[in-house]
Amino acid sequence: MTGVRGWRAELVWTLGDPARDEAALRHVPDGLLLVEEGRVVAAGPCGELSQGLPEGTPVEALPGRIITPGFIDAHVHFPQLDMMAAPGGALLDWLERYTFPAERAFADPAHCKDAAGRFVGGLLAHGTTTAMVYGSVHKASVDALFEEALARDMRLIAGKCLMDRGPEGLRDSVGSGADETVALIRAWRGRGRLGYAVTPRFALGSSREQLAAAGRILAGHPDTWMQTHLSENLAEIAATAAAFPEAADYLDVYDRFGLVGPRSMFAHAIHVEDRALGRMGQAGCACAFCPTSNLFLGSGLFDLERTRAHGVKVALGSDVGAGTSYSLLTTAAEAWKVGQLKGTRLDPLTGLYLAGRAGAEALGLADRIGAFEPGLEADFVVLDPSATPALARRTGNAGSLAERLFALMVLGDERVVERTYLAGRLAHRRA
Ligand code: GUN
Ligand code: ZN
Repeated sequence: MTGVRGWRAELVWTLGDPARDEAALRHVPDGLLLVEEGRVVAAGPCGELSQGLPEGTPVEALPGRIITPGFIDAHVHFPQLDMMAAPGGALLDWLERYTFPAERAFADPAHCKDAAGRFVGGLLAHGTTTAMVYGSVHKASVDALFEEALARDMRLIAGKCLMDRGPEGLRDSVGSGADETVALIRAWRGRGRLGYAVTPRFALGSSREQLAAAGRILAGHPDTWMQTHLSENLAEIAATAAAFPEAADYLDVYDRFGLVGPRSMFAHAIHVEDRALGRMGQAGCACAFCPTSNLFLGSGLFDLERTRAHGVKVALGSDVGAGTSYSLLTTAAEAWKVGQLKGTRLDPLTGLYLAGRAGAEALGLADRIGAFEPGLEADFVVLDPSATPALARRTGNAGSLAERLFALMVLGDERVVERTYLAGRLAHRRA
């Protein structure tokens, strides 16, 4: 008895940015995806692959559907799930008036547990199969999140916010922040597909002592990641410069404490100096481009071309709750619009790459997720290109694959995500 299962549909995935390398696009119009024990066995033309299959191998035919690797959200805040669309001003005002009050509720473990189910369910409903997530300052928020992800065998990286300079009621201390971080690493890292990210919220939220402690924990646990915010908003940048006058620039605040390296993920990175971008590229850092958030808060227009020209890896982040959608399709469409405003138009296929494979590369997980290569984890989504009347007509009259996928991105959202699979197991089905 074989454990192999198959799904027959149009298959699309990327192994890099098709705008830079045409051969990085994989497209099989009548494809078969074969999975065994949670991993991809093969993906290719159905006619060829089905010949070698043992009799009785279950194959599900999904005519008219596209199967692609699950989306990867490089930056999202768990405790902000119920406060999207909060009409604050720019970043610092929005944080004070809406975000911090919402995060205070996560002092209650029962609230964390309830929210974790809805959050992870929300990611899966939008086709996101891997995410890099901020908890709140409370250890219980990360415990609840990891518990939920573990139960679903989801690949998820998360960390508790370090913020000893946070607002009243949302502060840890250098000692408690470090102790809880280490306790979470010991309790969760390596279980199922979970990973830990040391998470100083942003430079303004931590003392020098706390940033130094974060750097020490990171150095002592080389299999963890580091996530923080960088150069998002002009007022925030000015306040950071005033608080850390010894630093050459915003990035240097983190660099001085050992937080800049190949496992560092910087959210936003909109207003970054050439020096800092060069340093990020040289250190192998990644950043999260969060267009819905950057537009919603009026933070600025991220320069994808300039950032990548410095060798910095770029992935997409929803940045919910400043972001306005969990959908990486919608996020990629907003990235396109930001490119239009900057006069650096994206290639239509770059959106698909940014929503998936780029995240795997940015997280150092390209050998695990984000493509249909043998041995990779079988996290995938079944997309319905005719989910709405407008989509049905537009994808029906599109002249090329690139145009069809572009329409799916610009007109699509969670409505096109018919099913989401984690390690070959159904994790969400559209109602
Ligand atoms: N900078 C510090 N905290 C936050 C946050 O919660 N959201 C965003 N967008 N930026 C931040
Ligand atoms: Zn953020």
